[in-house]
Amino acid sequence: MVGRKRLIGTFKRAGDAVLVQGMQGEKERLIKFTLAGAEATRSLGITLGRSLKAGSVIFLEGDLGSGKTTLVQGIGAGLGITESIVSPTFTLINEYSEGRLPLYHLDLYRLQLQEVAAMQLETYWEGIELPLGIVAIEWADRLDYKPPSYLRICLTYQGEAERVVEFFPVGEFQIDYLLNELGNNY
Ligand SMILES: Nc1ncnc2c1ncn2[C@@H]1O[C@H](COP(=O)(O)OP(=O)(O)OP(=O)(O)O)[C@@H](O)[C@H]1O
Ligand SMILES: [Mg+2]
Repeated sequence: MVGRKRLIGTFKRAGDAVLVQGMQGEKERLIKFTLAGAEATRSLGITLGRSLKAGSVIFLEGDLGSGKTTLVQGIGAGLGITESIVSPTFTLINEYSEGRLPLYHLDLYRLQLQEVAAMQLETYWEGIELPLGIVAIEWADRLDYKPPSYLRICLTYQGEAERVVEFFPVGEFQIDYLLNELGNNY
């Protein structure tokens, strides 16, 4: 489709990413970075934490140790949370209310589909019982009911300290303003 954008490049430091206009006929927007080390992943998270809108749901996908929690730690820092963000592998959900928006950090690794269904996680993105914030979900493939729109962020290994990150907006998730932030800042 005309006007779709691709953001490709290396997220090593400011100025490294390249924003390219998509070509006609392209099926989906491709936003892809190489993350040269844990600091690059954290830095990407900080940009996201500064810019994501209330109600954003992020599905974090990637193998064990691919950097999902590291990215959420950056998101927390970008939101202005000073408390240390630790993996909710055992607690399942950690909530942080100190920042610009609440951060709800979930890790479903240890759960079965039926257990996840019983947790009524839609509470986190409906904005009725809890204030809308950023919902970051590790191992979101354990969810069989999904929010109407969300951002899939997929991390893959590329060597010991290098990762590739890709963004896939789903439903009506607004990605253009994030592209602008990433394009402007990096
Ligand atoms: N480019 C990179 N991005 C992120 N982490 C990196 C990178 N290079 C090395 N690392 C290291 O990889 C590890 C990633 O751990 P992290 O807990 O963030 O992964 P995870 O995907 O959340 O794992 P899990 O599936 O167990 O929850 C950390 O020790 C981090 O320092
Ligand atoms: Mg983790």
